[in-house]
This record gives sequence, structure tokens and C-alpha cells, in this order.
Amino acid sequence: MIRNSREVHIVTHIDADGITAGAIASETLRRLGKEYSIECVKQLDEICMKKLLSDGHELVWFTDLGSGISTQYPEVKKIITDHHECPPDSDLSFHFNPHLFGKDGSYELSGAGATYLVSKSVSQKNKDLAALAIVGAIGDLQDRRFCELRGINMQVVEDGKESGVLQTMKDIRYFGKETRPLAKLLQYASDPLIPGVSGREDACVSFLQELQIELKAGDAWRTWVDLEKEEKRRILSAIIQMLLSKGFGYKTATRVLGATYILCKEEEGTELHEAKEFATLLNSTARYGQYEVGLQVCLGDRGKWLKEALNLLSGHRQNLVEGLQCARDEQIQKRTYLQYFHAGNGIRDTIIGIVTNMMLNTEDVDKELPLIGFALTENGEVKVSARAAQSLVDRGLDLAVALTRAAKEIHGIGGGHNIAAGATIPKGKEEEFLQLLEREIQRQFVP
Ligand code: C5P
Ligand code: C5P
Ligand code: ZN
Repeated sequence: MIRNSREVHIVTHIDADGITAGAIASETLRRLGKEYSIECVKQLDEICMKKLLSDGHELVWFTDLGSGISTQYPEVKKIITDHHECPPDSDLSFHFNPHLFGKDGSYELSGAGATYLVSKSVSQKNKDLAALAIVGAIGDLQDRRFCELRGINMQVVEDGKESGVLQTMKDIRYFGKETRPLAKLLQYASDPLIPGVSGREDACVSFLQELQIELKAGDAWRTWVDLEKEEKRRILSAIIQMLLSKGFGYKTATRVLGATYILCKEEEGTELHEAKEFATLLNSTARYGQYEVGLQVCLGDRGKWLKEALNLLSGHRQNLVEGLQCARDEQIQKRTYLQYFHAGNGIRDTIIGIVTNMMLNTEDVDKELPLIGFALTENGEVKVSARAAQSLVDRGLDLAVALTRAAKEIHGIGGGHNIAAGATIPKGKEEEFLQLLEREIQRQFVP
């Protein structure tokens, strides 16, 4: 279908996985000499689909979304490369999704990964796009379950290595190894938390000083990648020892270490060299309506667009800090089968998912209940984000199914993955939604 079309319109999602998926699709079409255009959306709702219908494109390529509409809108000629849960009656002839092959799209393949595999089948020359697909997978936290990528993702990793764009190694898993001053790396460490150290800047500084780690080299703050091997070893063993001595199990303590994915064509010490940092840079763009910025960076711009992305990154960081504070101030309300907070206008609807995730990772939040975050959208609706611990998924929880059903009952729209899902519902329906959701969750747990 791609080869036979003259013009293709790409519709993708606003997160890092969505932007990398969109970039892979764009580059694939460009290399084929096709005419193409792209747009980024928060979700595929009726307004969005109506617009597509009236635009009258020859072919629409949905990336990192679309699984929910594969059997709808037959008027739109489409292909879908997605990894969200989907109805079992999906038409395989134009929909590529790990769930249709019995694979779990929450960790075995991302939207960018699914798009990449299609791109590779268009031309083996597209294997260099594997690095972007890995940034997408990491942006979607697909390495979280096993502290490394698994499943079909490993095919993508191998392609990336083979084409010389990707390297992997075992290293500390915290965010910001290339660009954050060391003390900041530990201050924001959350999976696992370092007891008595994470969250407190002065404690991080003393922790490093006690280990005789120099925080600065000349005027510059040292980062993790600046450290000698021996220094890294000293810090890692101190963290692991600390976790064990405070009663955390071996399994938690060893989560400090995991696979790191390096984009080896990028410069070390920049926001583009390591997949986690690259993904965060992309999240700073499209989530604030600036998808063109992230897209151009993925497509190779290292000039004005990268500069703009870095500007947006500092705003994004600030918003996350403020968002977390807002969630704390609102306080989490516990019910039998879930816990929730309502941020009102305090957190943008496009980052409520990230904040809900971060909240669930904080020390004092109960991991035995899913966490639901509410935020108001610009057009007066309510955005819902839901996140849960893997242990609940292992016991039968599927947030995608629960949110899809609960939202549908009150004329909202929802979807996602077993471990993380979202929805948009009418304002004022929050209580009704929570009750419906509790009923769904109760049903899912094996008694
Ligand atoms: O839109 P999309 O599917 O691509 O996003 C996946 C979402 O699932 C992300 O927000 C990510 O943070 C979340 N996730 C998670 N834990 C996992 C896997 C995914 O919170 N283990
Ligand atoms: O928006 P949030 O990060 O909470 O979304 C979590 C997951 O649910 C993502 O994979 C997102 O694509 C999906 N989602 C969806 N339909 C919605 C809202 C979110 O499939 N209406
Ligand atoms: Zn995705």
C-alpha cells in the first residue's frame, strides 16, 4: 500500500514514541520519493477523524495510535503501525501490532518499533532508523519491567548494532548520566529510590563526598559519564549496600543496574547520546504543541531546531517539578480498588501521565493500588491517566480494558496498555468514572 500510493499523510502521537514513529515513517516515505505530510495528535477522537475524512488523503499512515479504530472509518484508506491494545477482530491486512501476534505491546514492541519493522520491510536500507525506534521504546519505558528491552525489541536492537547506530552496555539506570551533575542524578533517582539520599540535594552531596568522589572538574560539574570506572563501581556498590541494609530485597537493589542504549553517531555528553535523555528531549516538544521541533531533531537537525528543543527541555523540567508539587498538594485519595488525585488546572493534560507515573514511584505512595491522575483540558474536558505496578498486572489487572470500558459508559474515550492507560471524559463525571473503574478493576483481579 505504501509503495502504491503517491501521497501519504502520517498521523502520530505526541509523546517520544509517537515522534520517533512519525520520523521513521516520514524518512521512509522521503526515501521512496513520496509526497507526504504529518500531524501529531493527543488521541484519535471524533474531531480528529472528521478532519481526516474531509482532508481526503490518498492514504493515511497511523503510527503509535490507531489500534482502536482499525475496524472503523472504512472511507479512510489506512495503514496502522501501533502497539496499543486492540479489539481482537482487527483486520491484519493493514494493521501491524504486536498484540495481534500474541505479544505484549507494553514492553515487547513500541509504536516506533512497529513502524520501524514496516519501514525495514519496505527497504533493508532503513535499518539505520533502528536507533530512533529504540528511543521510542525507551520513551515508553519498555525497559522498565526487566531493566532491559526484551521481546521483538531485541530484533530492533540487533539491527541498530548491525548498522552501526546503536551500542548497548550495562550501567546505572538513573536518568541524566550524560548531562546531569552527579548530585542531581542521585537527587532525582527513583527506581530504585536511594533511601535517605534521593530527594535531598545536601544528602546527595554528602553521600558522594563520603565516597571521595570529586563533584567538579575545574569549573564544570562532573556527570556520570565523566567518572572513572573505579568511581562508578564505588558509587554503585554503596547504593546497593544501602538498599540491602535498609531491608530492600536483592531484586530491588539490583534494579540500580540495567541496559543502557547509546546512539553512537551522536556526541557524548549531549542530550542525544543516550536513549533516555533523547526521549525526554522529544517529550519536551510535542507535548507542548511543538512537534515540528522534535521531528526535525529526529530527522537530523543539529542547528536551530535542536537549540529550540533544548529551550523547551528546561521548561519541561520545570513543569514536571511543579506538577509533582501540585499532585502532592492535592493529596492522594484512597478507595478500595484505586487511589487518585485531581490536579484541576494545575497540571497540563499532556504531562499528567508522566506526573502520575512519577508520583507512583515516590516513596510514600501505595504500590498495591493503581494511581489515577485527573487534569482539566483546554476545551473543558477531563484527561485521565492511570498507572500501576507490574505486580498488579501479574495478578490480572489490565488498565487499558478498564479505562476503555469505564470511559465508554460515560461517552468518553480511553485506551492504552495493561500497566498504563489513559482516557478523556466529560467534566463533572469524575465520580461516576471512578465508580465504574473500581467495578472493572474488582472484576479483573482473580479472587
Ligand atoms: O502512548 P504510549 O503507548 O506509546 O505510551 C506508553 C505509556 O505507558 C507511557 O506513558 C509509559 O510511561 C507507560 N508505561 C509505564 N510502565 C511500563 C510501560 C509503559 O508506565 N512498564
Ligand atoms: O496519556 P497517558 O500517558 O496517561 O496515556 C497512557 C497510555 O494510554 C498511552 O499509551 C496512551 O497512548 C494511551 N491512551 C489511549 N487513549 C486515550 C488516552 C491515552 O490509548 N484516550
Ligand atoms: Zn507508544
